[in-house]
Parts: sequence; structure tokens; C-alpha cells
Amino acid sequence: MRFLNFGLVALSSLFAASAAAPTSAVPELSAIKDINVKQPSVEVELNRRTDDAVCSKIQSTLVEVKKHTSIINSTVSSVHGVVEKTEKLKIISVVKSEVTIIVQLITSLVGEITVLLTDITTITGSLKDEIVSVVVELLLEILLTLNNVISTLKITIFELLGPIVFALLAVVLHLLAILNVVIVDLLKIVFGLLGGVAGILSSVLAGLGGIISGLLTGLVGGALGLVGGIVGCIL
Ligand SMILES: *[C@@H]1O[C@H](CO)[C@@H](O)[C@H](O)[C@H]1NC(C)=O
Repeated sequence: MRFLNFGLVALSSLFAASAAAPTSAVPELSAIKDINVKQPSVEVELNRRTDDAVCSKIQSTLVEVKKHTSIINSTVSSVHGVVEKTEKLKIISVVKSEVTIIVQLITSLVGEITVLLTDITTITGSLKDEIVSVVVELLLEILLTLNNVISTLKITIFELLGPIVFALLAVVLHLLAILNVVIVDLLKIVFGLLGGVAGILSSVLAGLGGIISGLLTGLVGGALGLVGGIVGCIL
């Protein structure tokens, strides 16, 4: 398992690096300034079992993420039939700022969980099931929302998000990688459950094919194992 986590983290950093490079290409960064990133309160954390805290942090992130996917949904819901160019650009711009906020939310989640996980060796039983299901719900929420936008506007995920899509992929992979350290087979289970929407996942990521398949050629078949295989199938 260790190599797998390493591979994932390496892949995440790779995406993060490619996303971070053209900073000027990421618009509406000012939108992030308004988010109040919650710092975990030490007193509260000490009174709670740490592994419970991991689960409840993912749950509260899901609640926050849904506020932003809901804004995206209502922006797109006005679209019927053919969209004129100005309106399309306006929608794209709203979606970009909302997804940027979602990336920030998951980034702070990853930071908080990483700290908590230093005290945990393994999570099993019903808490494991609960974490798996909330993680899957989080991924589906983002995936289905973005799928709805790209199919409504008839554009690719890259036309919609630009480099932000790499930041999103990176932080999602990072979240899965750190959870996989304490939850046996988390990746297998999550991707298994996502198997039901594999068609949607591949149609969303299809817009990236040309862009990252070259990047991945060097990785797939190397240390990436499962993830390389999955990404390889998708592309
Ligand atoms: C947004 O729309 C998607 C796709 O229809 C749906 O799966 C998701 O649950 C919606 N989210 C919210 C918060 O309404």
C-alpha cells in the first residue's frame, strides 16, 4: 500500500505544480478572500475522539461544498436550449469562482485531517463505512454538478475550468491518498462505488485527454499501480 500512497501523492503534487504554475491564468482569486477558513479549536479537538473528528470534518466540508454546488446549479438552471456567448462566459466565470472555493475547502480539509491522522493508525468498522460513504457523496456531488454544467453548455471540462481542473483533481487525489493510509482499501472501495458513474467520470475527464495523457504516460506502468490503471482507463 505504501508505494500506492506515494504514487498518489506524487501525482497530486504533479497536478498541483501544473496548476500552480500559470497563476495569472486562474481568475477570480479575489473570490477566495471572502472565505472564512475555520481553524480547529484545540479545546474542542481534545475532547473528541480523533477518528470521529476526521469523519465529522469531512461531513461539514460536504455541507459547505453543497452551498457552492447549489450556486452552480442555480446559475445553470436558467439555461434552456442554445446559450449566447456572453451568457455562456458569465456562467463559466461563476462556476470557476465557485470551484475555486471548493478547492480551497477541500485543501483545508486535507490540512486538518493530516494533523489528526498523526495520532491514528487505522480506522475500521462502522466509522470506516461512514467515512467511505461521505467521501463518495462528496466526490459525486462535485462530479455530477460539473457534469451537469458541461453537458448543458456543451463544452469540455477544460473549457469550463481551465487549469483549475488540475487543482481540483490534485486536492481530491490528495484527500483519497491520506485517507488510504488509515483506511484499508479506501481507494479500491471508493473507485468501486464510483464505478456506477464511470461513464460520467470518463465523459467529464474526456476533455483532458489530450492535455494530460502525455503527462501520464511516464507514470502509468510505473509505481502508480491501481491509480495509474484507473486514470489510464479513463483517458
Ligand atoms: C446540483 O446538481 C447536481 C446534478 O444535477 C446534483 O447531483 C447535486 O446534488 C446538486 N447539488 C445541490 C446542492 O443542489
